[in-house]
Amino acid sequence: MPLVKRVTMVTVRAPATVANLGSGFDVFGIALRQPADIIHVEKAEETTIQVNGIGSNYIPTSPKKNTAGVVAEELDAPATITINKGIRPSSGLGSSAASAAGTALALNALYGQELSREELVWIAAKGESAASGEPHADNVAPSLLGGFTIATPDGITTIDAHLDIVVCLPEITVSTRNAREMLPKSVDLHSHVQTVGNAATLTAGMTQNNPELVGRGLSDSVVTPTRTNLISGYESVHQAAMDAGATGVTIGGSGPTMLAIPKKGKSREVASAMVSAFLEQGVNSRAYQTNIGPGAELYL
Ligand code: HSE
Repeated sequence: MPLVKRVTMVTVRAPATVANLGSGFDVFGIALRQPADIIHVEKAEETTIQVNGIGSNYIPTSPKKNTAGVVAEELDAPATITINKGIRPSSGLGSSAASAAGTALALNALYGQELSREELVWIAAKGESAASGEPHADNVAPSLLGGFTIATPDGITTIDAHLDIVVCLPEITVSTRNAREMLPKSVDLHSHVQTVGNAATLTAGMTQNNPELVGRGLSDSVVTPTRTNLISGYESVHQAAMDAGATGVTIGGSGPTMLAIPKKGKSREVASAMVSAFLEQGVNSRAYQTNIGPGAELYL
């Protein structure tokens, strides 16, 4: 008889993500190789949550208010959940989504539920709504599946893209709820045509690992301009990154992270120019020179 290992605890590393990528509001996302959250789960009679690490003081531990708790409820999988935050909350790097995605993958394994990663995306998206007010899968999809993801209600497309990425996180806090409330309620036809063109260019660039096309496709005249004033120094940092060798720059998710696509070999220059430009505006920041990476990793 084969030996079946009884799973009593599971650990998952769930990566940070960048959603929107300018032209793909609420649809596009990429997984980043770093930073990440580490989530540990053990079976229990009822769900309890402990949060450690970066920004943990600001994260609710009540299971009804925490994205991981909502996921545990959705999966009917009570557990003692410990989240070690490597991703700062309210950063635009998919912090709450990583906790939701990682918990969904971990509890699925802990309880042997055998849901696919695609199915877990929609469970994790419900968890995300606890943090942002509305369910959207553009962060949880790449955190679970890796690469570049196109998440629509009809399904998720994943492209195994390989590109260098620079993200620069200023010491500014942006609430996703607020950043969503200020969005325009309608889009004119001209902007719609531009957005379709940019989103298609970006997608083609991802299939070809082409930083020029991806950078060009980040342009967006609908969502991004309404949010730039939430980030002190946005225009200067944008210009500094372009001057240092970026092919395009935009807001990461709902901000305040700024995302730049560097030309080949230019990550260091772009990262350093962005940090210096924020500093000239009196804002401290931290840049990550990273790349598009894999989805959440499971350790049994
Ligand atoms: N697509 C989302 C937004 C990402 O920009 O509001 C943040 O949850």
